Amino acid sequence: MVKSNMAHIIDGKKIAETTRADITARVEAFKNENGFVPGLAVVIVGENPASKVYVRNKKLASEQAGMYSVVCEMPENTTQEELMAKLSQLKADEKIHGILVQLPLPKHLNESEVLRFIPPEKDVDAFHAENTGHIMIGDYHFLPCTPAGVMTMLKYENIDVAGKKCVVIGRSNIVGKPMAMLLLHADGTVTVCHSKTQNLAEIIRQADILVVAIGRAKFVTGDMVKPGAVVIDVGMNRDENGKLCGDCDFESCEKVAGAITPVPGGVGPMTITTLLENTLRAAELAVKNA
Ligand code: GUN
Repeated sequence: MVKSNMAHIIDGKKIAETTRADITARVEAFKNENGFVPGLAVVIVGENPASKVYVRNKKLASEQAGMYSVVCEMPENTTQEELMAKLSQLKADEKIHGILVQLPLPKHLNESEVLRFIPPEKDVDAFHAENTGHIMIGDYHFLPCTPAGVMTMLKYENIDVAGKKCVVIGRSNIVGKPMAMLLLHADGTVTVCHSKTQNLAEIIRQADILVVAIGRAKFVTGDMVKPGAVVIDVGMNRDENGKLCGDCDFESCEKVAGAITPVPGGVGPMTITTLLENTLRAAELAVKNA
């Protein structure tokens, strides 16, 4: 079978492995220089099964990179005060350089108060308003994990963003908004689409670089994609058969796109890679500010 018209598959697993090997070497050098290792604390409240998998992977990856890692599992009925008390403890812990509260939190908890409470210098998710502001200005220590992971992939694949038409679908604080900002910093011409966007398919079809983060299984189909476009699929959904799938219909999109990320094995592994990078940077900052 001739496959020449199929898109190049961007192998996030391989890019993550290469990048993590580099981070692991830097962690080793940091340890030799400073006598301690970067430490990451991940807080999870409740029983969300997807969150539990993400948190387990974050712990595993940080340990594999040679870091110290703790997971604080708190029950679904945790009160705001209990969660804040746990965060106070982690704030004061010198072995912990990065703190991450896995989202979403149970509905009774005040997410924005929690995110504000994490000190900006330990905010390895880059969700604190101070860090968000730094990203907007383009002067930052921490980059948001998923968007930065996407930028690392583009760089690894030698995909130049400058002057390209970039379309981001989704405007969440975690992915869509910071993704648009990073593409803008890379000199892309950026359009952000969302649930109220009119003529969505028409706008998608103009994209040289398309980033899809809407959380709807197989929403973008091949007929919406510009031939040769780069398609980055941030989605992680289950299809009608319970199989993992992205926000793009891979089968039809790969016939039209020039390059595409698969799900799983695309953006997912890159998100945790940025988290490791940020945790190392947090430890470096702690040394600098000591
Ligand atoms: N939930 C989904 N993505 C993320 C993320 O990048 N960080 C945190 N803390 N929670 C998430």
